[in-house]
Amino acid sequence: MRKDAFSRRMMRQTKLSVDDLIQPLFIHEGEPEKQPIPSMPGIFRWGLNALAEPCKRCHALGIPAVVLFPSTPSAAKSADAKQAWHPNGLVQRAIKAVKHAAPDLGVITDVALDPYTSHGQDGLCDARGYVENDRTVAALVKQAMSHVEAGADVVAPSDMMDGRVRAIRDAFEKNGYPNARILAYSAKYASTFYAPFRQAVGSASNLGGGDKRSYQMDPANADEALRETALDLAEGADMVMVKPGAINLDIVWRVKQAFGMPTFAYQVSGEYAMLKAAAEHGWLDERQAVLETLTCFKRAGCDGILTYYAAQVAEWLRESECAEI
Ligand code: PBG
Repeated sequence: MRKDAFSRRMMRQTKLSVDDLIQPLFIHEGEPEKQPIPSMPGIFRWGLNALAEPCKRCHALGIPAVVLFPSTPSAAKSADAKQAWHPNGLVQRAIKAVKHAAPDLGVITDVALDPYTSHGQDGLCDARGYVENDRTVAALVKQAMSHVEAGADVVAPSDMMDGRVRAIRDAFEKNGYPNARILAYSAKYASTFYAPFRQAVGSASNLGGGDKRSYQMDPANADEALRETALDLAEGADMVMVKPGAINLDIVWRVKQAFGMPTFAYQVSGEYAMLKAAAEHGWLDERQAVLETLTCFKRAGCDGILTYYAAQVAEWLRESECAEI
């Protein structure tokens, strides 16, 4: 069966499609409107006057949705992170800009406080710097509400606080947004592979030597991922996510087998940076390495993948409709 392309095609089980791809987009207050990110070659911070460009590209390629990540100036950061729910904040304005540029493109927003805290943590800290769960959840609800009020279709809490999915779901139900969807980062590991992202959004220097191990998961644990996912689903999550992706495909598999729910994985910034760096050195064929990787995400059980390569992959898939990856 492996001898010829036709018979390989006949028995191929997994086929990556544009429907599987979600494009993360970095945004900032602008100048320049399209600013390269050194830790992530080929990826940009978009100003709101230029944001239509990647949105129209994604829409034209058939990508279902984008996720917005703000890089905020230090003036927007404080101990109480109150810019996170400002009705006219960067994300809130960006949501409207995306909807204006491409009305059918799904808009997903990140719910976490790290772009807005002076210490770079995802939550609010006590005097000793410990991230306090319940006070943070109250802030996340305000942030999530401000996103749906601005027009977001899906909120994606990436903060790993306990109980935030139920609190956000209750707020949506009570305040007239019963159809707003929740994509929960259910199994999010405390990972060194987020480093290029933290450079991209400018939270790395705020975080300093700090880490997120008091709320993100220990990469050594697997059963905990299932407990976290079960809680988020019981609290009303519509979709769940595992992150980082490639190193945790065993977790994707277990989550998909255990719950049979829409399951996503995030090919994070460090994964992108590794592939990009090897490709730039000529050590890997970028197209083949990326398509093989994402096909294996899907084989593990992913219903969708957040990847900085989304638009590029959509283009590759168009070029080679039935060719082998
Ligand atoms: C912040 C957040 C992070 C990522 C998505 N949302 C970083 C972190 O938790 O420190 C990482 C994404 C990536 O590395 O591509 N809540």
